[in-house]
Amino acid sequence: MNLKNIAIIMDGNGRWAKKNNLKIKEGHAKGVSALKEIVKECVNQEIESLTVYAFSTENWKRPKSEVESINNLIVNSINNELDELIEQNVKVKFFGDYINFGKNTFKKIKFAEEKSFLQKPQLRLNVALGYGGKMDIINIAREVSRLKIKPSQIDEKTINDLSQVPESNIDLLIRTGGDTRVSNFLLYQIAYSEIHFVRKLWPDYSKKDFKRNIKKYLNSERRFGDRA
Ligand code: IPE
Ligand code: IPE
Ligand code: MG
Repeated sequence: MNLKNIAIIMDGNGRWAKKNNLKIKEGHAKGVSALKEIVKECVNQEIESLTVYAFSTENWKRPKSEVESINNLIVNSINNELDELIEQNVKVKFFGDYINFGKNTFKKIKFAEEKSFLQKPQLRLNVALGYGGKMDIINIAREVSRLKIKPSQIDEKTINDLSQVPESNIDLLIRTGGDTRVSNFLLYQIAYSEIHFVRKLWPDYSKKDFKRNIKKYLNSERRFGDRA
């Protein structure tokens, strides 16, 4: 299949919780269940990588209680889901400044990455946590300067190597929740992505919806600037 690298902005957990008279944290928990189903479908469809936006640099502005519930959810999700991910040959990688979630979470993330490490995984699952596209670009610029890389030596590979983002190119970016913006997600890597905005809230997004997005992608004509 032509479709190899997918990214998702998993938006709408808060509205879903409100709609169902539940607490915000229950919305986020339901969001993890939705992700589990989409990961399974990626494995089924032999997608190579799935990169998801779990927490942005801007999300630190949220109430402490919500940030803490997300922090707990990360640790619990690793505890509950890691074995099944490994069974499916999924390699898990986190990226962003997730160190700000504390030592305990940091250690748990490193444990998950090490335990699921594979040279040739069925699927690379990349989770953006405390990530922001602008921050990533600023860090790349800082690294270029710190490493004294000559201007003439800078090319796409330099940027990809220095970026926190594990994937260099995203074929399809999906955002649920109805908003038509990128919210500081993968800026450089989505340069030529097809972008699908879906009205459904993330916890309601199903395999069926995902298959519809894949089909739409496969029907799109990708010219990359060339003549058709
Ligand atoms: C996305 O859902 C998850 C995170 C940003 C952590 P939201 O919590 O933003 O849900 P809405 O947009 O308020 O519905
Ligand atoms: C984007 O959603 C971040 C994640 C899904 C993790 P937000 O809800 O934070 O984005 P805005 O505030 O609508 O732009
Ligand atoms: Mg939101």
